[in-house]
Amino acid sequence: MARLAVNVDHIATVRQARLAKEPDPVTAAALAELGGAHGIVVHLREDRRHIQDRDVAILRETVKTKLNLEMAATREIVEIALKIKPDVATLVPEKRQELTTEGGLDVTAFETPLKEVVASLHGGGIAVSLFVNPDAKHIKTAHRLEADYVELHTGIFSEARSFARRQEEYERIVTAARLARKLGIGVHAGHGVDYQNIFWLRNVTEVEEFSIGHSIIARAVLVGMERAVREMLELVS
Ligand code: PXP
Repeated sequence: MARLAVNVDHIATVRQARLAKEPDPVTAAALAELGGAHGIVVHLREDRRHIQDRDVAILRETVKTKLNLEMAATREIVEIALKIKPDVATLVPEKRQELTTEGGLDVTAFETPLKEVVASLHGGGIAVSLFVNPDAKHIKTAHRLEADYVELHTGIFSEARSFARRQEEYERIVTAARLARKLGIGVHAGHGVDYQNIFWLRNVTEVEEFSIGHSIIARAVLVGMERAVREMLELVS
């Protein structure tokens, strides 16, 4: 059975919209663990648009499962990772203008600088995952870089509009997952995974862990709405 790692970035997005204290991603992470999550994921972006340094530091103390820090391979963030020591660091591409991570990291084009970053994270006792598009060349590069995991980008699959396109992307994910396993690399998958397309993706038995944020937080907001209104109604009346 695949593990589920829950990304709580969107909780911080709501908090930062008001620069308030709540909702706290640390509390959300604890509740996700109570719900059975096998891991917690946060992305400390260079622009700090949602998760803050304080969140990562506290989560390191409170997460009882596994803390996976999504991060750009920049000097500043690598130094923070080496201090915080998440269980896993997932290297992702990062652009300031994007709404969310757009596409996998081009590990092949950046193989040389990434070698140093992976070695330095490994030196700090941190397992390294590389977020890549499901292409053989990137899986082979990840192997050369001695990555512990690849996280296969499922965004193109989840956004596919036609059945044929989705099937094609699904096949690419299956082929990439098999190659990674053959090379001894652990396989994670994420981006755009939801309560519908998981029926496809859970058949990719090579995937050890799904990293899911948006769909879970979106559902949490809606399934919690009625109760939240009822509780306020009791106070109001
Ligand atoms: N994996 C990576 C590398 C991501 O950047 C994200 C988005 O933060 C996710 C997984 C989760 O994607 P989603 O929020 O669409 O479930």
